[in-house]
Amino acid sequence: MQDVSVLPLWRCLERRGGADVYVTEYFRVHRDSHPDKEILRSITDFPGDKPVIAQMIGNDPEHLLRTTKRLQDQSDCSGIDINLGCPAPTVCGKLSGGALLKDHNLIREIVETLRPAVRGTFTLKTRIGFETPEEFEALLALFASLPIDGLAIHGRTVREKYQSPVHTDCIAHAVKTLPFPVTANGSIVSLETALAMHRTTGARGLMIGRGGIRNPWLFQQIRDAFSGNDSPSITLNDVRDYIFELRDEIRETGQFDSDTHLVHRMKKFTNYIASGIHEGEFNYALRRANTLTAFEAICDEHLCSDEAFPEYPDDDGKLFCGFKELVA
Ligand SMILES: Cc1cc2nc3c(=O)[nH]c(=O)nc-3n(C[C@H](O)[C@H](O)[C@H](O)COP(=O)(O)O)c2cc1C
Repeated sequence: MQDVSVLPLWRCLERRGGADVYVTEYFRVHRDSHPDKEILRSITDFPGDKPVIAQMIGNDPEHLLRTTKRLQDQSDCSGIDINLGCPAPTVCGKLSGGALLKDHNLIREIVETLRPAVRGTFTLKTRIGFETPEEFEALLALFASLPIDGLAIHGRTVREKYQSPVHTDCIAHAVKTLPFPVTANGSIVSLETALAMHRTTGARGLMIGRGGIRNPWLFQQIRDAFSGNDSPSITLNDVRDYIFELRDEIRETGQFDSDTHLVHRMKKFTNYIASGIHEGEFNYALRRANTLTAFEAICDEHLCSDEAFPEYPDDDGKLFCGFKELVA
């Protein structure tokens, strides 16, 4: 995820069990592009030996091929993934990301050009259509005919952005139809929603974005549930430790020349982390903090407590929505 799926976060996730597989923010690919050094570092400096997949966004088969080779030369990424889902107008306007779903021939050309060069897994990340879910059937026929190793499906259309319930029926249909593993994505924010997504779709994998930033223990909680173990309960003190650890990891990148800059960066994460805690008051206060001292004092005020970390974020439609429908 742009700006948030970064190495400092991944280090914090790993200390809490972490995901089985990580996917980078997308590398932007165009005629003059070089792989972004910071994103590359999230692969080369990743702690431990879990697979890290490099995701690219772009629409020109030759430039994507050139970048694939460079990424594989300059890192030990375990696979290449192409983004077919980003709804940002700047991306779709250039006929990349989600807009590629409108051009099946181009998707085929990209996949066929890259396939012989990809050394690890070759996957796509899609949505269920650009305008409407009715487009999904034709997309499935296309995907089924492509030489790829897997497909991650964010169960919304591009038009729906992040603001609708997830079309789990489409993901379930894809699981039954496609000859390769499907990973289900969209609004998994808790163990309960993860299990519901797995049960209703039968997907081989679960992909977790915003919910994993908010609850970095979630990956281990899911692993524990599948192996029949209980997970330790999480308190607000644990959340405070996580936020302060993330602050230290981000500071250590050396990219932030002032504490104000660091606080600004931290808010990208605490926006998600604070959701669900103290009816929005915690996040409201954090958003107004301009100094690191104020930011830390607000964390102390709200989080120095053995109170349980709420299982769910706020359902206000701003950062999180559609998760209640998963368990309905
Ligand atoms: C801030 C932000 C940045 C994102 N960046 C990417 C990205 O670089 N690549 C990608 O495939 N999806 C990206 N996404 C989409 C997420 O990967 C995911 O598909 C979506 O948020 C739904 O899953 P979630 O509810 O688990 O977050 C981004 C989403 C957000 C909110």
